[in-house]
Amino acid sequence: MKSKAIILAAGKGTRLRSKTAKPLHKIASLPLISWVMRAAKNADIDSISVVMSLSQNDLKDTVEGKADIIFQDKQNGTGHAVLAAQQQLEKLAPDCPVIVLFADTPLITEATIVDVIATLSPSSQDNAQASQNADICVLCFDTDNPKGYGRLKINDAGDLVGIVEEADTSEAEKRITLVNGGIMAAKASVLTTLLPQLDTANAQGEIYLTDIVAHGYQAGCTLTYLVCDEEELTGVNDRVQLAQAEALMQNRLRKKMMMAGVTMINPQTVTLSFDTEIGADTIIEPNVFFGPQVKIGQNCQIKGFSHIEGAEIQQNCSIGPFARIRPGTKLGDEVKLGNFVETKNAVFAEGAKASHLSYIGDAEIGVAVNIGAGTITCNYDGVQKHQTIIEKGAFIGSNTALVAPVSIGADSIIGAGSVITQNVPSDSLALTRSPQTSLKGGTSRIIEAAKSLKEPKK
Ligand code: UD1
Ligand code: CA
Repeated sequence: MKSKAIILAAGKGTRLRSKTAKPLHKIASLPLISWVMRAAKNADIDSISVVMSLSQNDLKDTVEGKADIIFQDKQNGTGHAVLAAQQQLEKLAPDCPVIVLFADTPLITEATIVDVIATLSPSSQDNAQASQNADICVLCFDTDNPKGYGRLKINDAGDLVGIVEEADTSEAEKRITLVNGGIMAAKASVLTTLLPQLDTANAQGEIYLTDIVAHGYQAGCTLTYLVCDEEELTGVNDRVQLAQAEALMQNRLRKKMMMAGVTMINPQTVTLSFDTEIGADTIIEPNVFFGPQVKIGQNCQIKGFSHIEGAEIQQNCSIGPFARIRPGTKLGDEVKLGNFVETKNAVFAEGAKASHLSYIGDAEIGVAVNIGAGTITCNYDGVQKHQTIIEKGAFIGSNTALVAPVSIGADSIIGAGSVITQNVPSDSLALTRSPQTSLKGGTSRIIEAAKSLKEPKK
């Protein structure tokens, strides 16, 4: 095995004040734990274990199949959590690099994980940061606001000699600005030797993973640290930090997308998901939300205030403003969905249009169909959903209710205001309108009648 990652996720996360386990809170629509697992996997770590508590069933469901699960029976600190993996660690080659990641540090990148692992490797010329064949490497950052973080203790010779947790700091130590990002790596044999030596003689009465640094220094281990961007090590402990992590991740995703050729008129107002795919030359107007599983082709226009999730959209389409595109929507080339149009489980073929105020659900819309303003597919009878099929070239007049299951044949026309309950053959005009009557002089007669009923003023 080349390397192993242990992701700590058993903490109670009390500061989030949530019924949902902290690792399952999402940024860019993906759980925190999944971001960390992805980074580890992309960094080519060949074995990933997640430490969780026995009660975290939902978390177990999310992790299962993607990583090994290790249970930590009671939560007695980060060192105690890694100790739960002791048996696994003992099976590794003594030199195997083991990186400890936190489920609440989701912005860590694969590049940084690779760099940390490289410091433990005997040789790695291709790594920009000097490799020292170290035994332990701490990932840290320099910050104006070190409160809450463990402080790195560096001696006069410039060597890392220990980490002191916030609760245990002296006044002088509080002023140290180089802090532990929580992530560290060590050779497997170093962990299996040092972890059992740790005790709970500290302000919080916990077994601190960070104590392996001082123990390692005393045992003559080679210690090193890597200074990283503060952003990557942002920890999520409360909802304010969750929002900060979301903002940082959104910036990252938007930047990547713009560099790949997508225009965003006001990027700060566009919300993406971890898996949003958008083709070059597509223009995203302000205030657009992309939920999970959205793929959009090239040269589309996504107009302001649209909400899109679970949709596949081909090229040259125009969506919104104020469109709601729900899961199961598939749009061919040059489809136009205008303002206040909602779609769900709806497939639109090339060039089909619904330009205003419509609900199209459980439907198949043919090539170049035109759906008039206010058309509704009545897909739900209170018990079941039913399908509406509109074949190519059909024209649906405004304010039509299509009561599903129903199909409209190719090139047919539905008269405005119709309630269509039966299939319409191709090349037909269908309408359910009652005949119009215009009574000449009717307005005057009504007004006179109304006046005669009005009581005279006293
Ligand atoms: C930890 C570090 C601190 C560092 C900070 C960076 C220790 C002792 N402290 O503090 O030096 O500056 O992260 O964010 O390591 N966990 C378990 N089991 C436990 C306790 C925690 O799995 O018994 C998990 C949590 O789910 C979390 C991670 O470990 O993912 C970190 O725990 P947390 O309590 O948030 O540590 P911090 O106080 O933030
Ligand atoms: Ca934390």
